[in-house]
Amino acid sequence: MTIPAQSKSAVLTKEAAPGEVLLKVSGLQKHFPIRSGLLKRQTGSVKAVDGIDFDVRSGETLGVVGESGCGKSTMGRLITRLLEPTGGTVEFEGRDITHLGVRGMRPMRRDVQMIFQDPYSSLNPRHTVGGIISAPFKLQGVTPEGGIKKEVQRLLSVVGLNPEHYNRYPHEFSGGQRQRIGIARALALNPKLVVADEPVSALDVSIQAQVVNLLDDLQQELGLTYVIIAHDLSVIRHVSDRIAVMYLGKIVELADRKSLYAAPMHPYTKALMSAVPVPDPKRRGMKSERILLKGDVPSPISPPSGCRFHTRCWKATEVCKTQEPVLVELKPGQQVACHHPENAPDQAPGEAVLPEARESIEVVTIGETVTAEAPAASEAAEEPAVAEAAEAAETSEASEASEAATASEASSEATSGEGESGPDGTVQESTDK
Ligand SMILES: Nc1ncnc2c1ncn2[C@@H]1O[C@H](COP(=O)(O)OP(=O)(O)OP(=O)(O)O)[C@@H](O)[C@H]1O
Ligand code: SF4
Ligand SMILES: [Mg+2]
Repeated sequence: MTIPAQSKSAVLTKEAAPGEVLLKVSGLQKHFPIRSGLLKRQTGSVKAVDGIDFDVRSGETLGVVGESGCGKSTMGRLITRLLEPTGGTVEFEGRDITHLGVRGMRPMRRDVQMIFQDPYSSLNPRHTVGGIISAPFKLQGVTPEGGIKKEVQRLLSVVGLNPEHYNRYPHEFSGGQRQRIGIARALALNPKLVVADEPVSALDVSIQAQVVNLLDDLQQELGLTYVIIAHDLSVIRHVSDRIAVMYLGKIVELADRKSLYAAPMHPYTKALMSAVPVPDPKRRGMKSERILLKGDVPSPISPPSGCRFHTRCWKATEVCKTQEPVLVELKPGQQVACHHPENAPDQAPGEAVLPEARESIEVVTIGETVTAEAPAASEAAEEPAVAEAAEAAETSEASEASEAATASEASSEATSGEGESGPDGTVQESTDK
């Protein structure tokens, strides 16, 4: 298959070889101002992302997990430069792109693309599939070999859609097929980095597996680098090489997949993971303890002092309330921000657990039967289906037919009219948040 050459336009950048750092994020912040009164004075800010550091290496998949509202999408929009950071830096192939304007970002747009969560609102219903996928070529002034139409048809077949459907409209496709269209659009210019924000969460579980496999296959074939954001740990486990766990605007743990699942260090990671059933069939059905965190994530307008997780952590001590733990590497390839980590030496020994900390969780023992009293358990019971189905789908034919069967009715008032363009329009979405 002919693939358009990856961009050489960013002359100041150094191409990252596989395994080398492609994207480097340092101290990244996004504080959304809160304004009130007649003069619209700023009275506070939502600290959606509040100082995060990480690298993405060429050819890898970095998974990002965390509860709703912890800043995952904001982080995704910052690194694709759809949002202007409040602080910190973003470097792509060694070039500082933190504050590049529309013109400066144009060459980078070829290299950095985003796939959005909602396949219903992220495609403009008034444009044909051909129009949607060819937009990036037109906006970038790129004419692929053989012409745009031929290339769009090739992209349709790459993502498992019928090239003959070039002139159809998004409402004629099912959710899974629409997400494939979004993927084709993101791949049009042969990007180096693709940031996918909850790429499968809006889809039926059986279709999720197909889309996850498609992303996997495309990575192998095209040498893509992914940042995949998801709240579903079974999806993250299936796709990621390394995983960043976010809580209230911070990265609390960053580790390679095996280490994280074998021995999570941050209590928050441990709680999240305890909600995921064990994929090992030999151990399935055995009793396991599930940690249910009580209460919601606190407001990012005034996050808790010290460790932001201290209001929900069963290990919290006085030092946790006053000193913010720094993200440090406690084992090779495993960084954690915690004074009293799991599976690692205590970083602040001799501290007494706060009396209220003991009340912050509920431990539920579950066996084969999932009880109605454990809502997180019943949710999680569905999760292995994605990973298992993904494996099963690898060996079965991609079922276009089943997707077509689930095709929803036209939702032509779906919000595409409000679809936002990225700085130069190559990334298009409606505000799904
Ligand atoms: N444009 C905005 N203006 C003000 N606050 C915002 C804006 N966008 C996001 N936020 C706030 O920032 C915080 C982080 O939001 P974000 O969407 O990044 O979280 P998330 O981790 O992606 O959540 P979810 O899993 O629900 O998608 C939330 O409190 C959200 O309300
Ligand atoms: S032990 Fe302390 S530092 Fe670690 S997660 Fe709990 S509250 Fe935070
Ligand atoms: Mg989000």
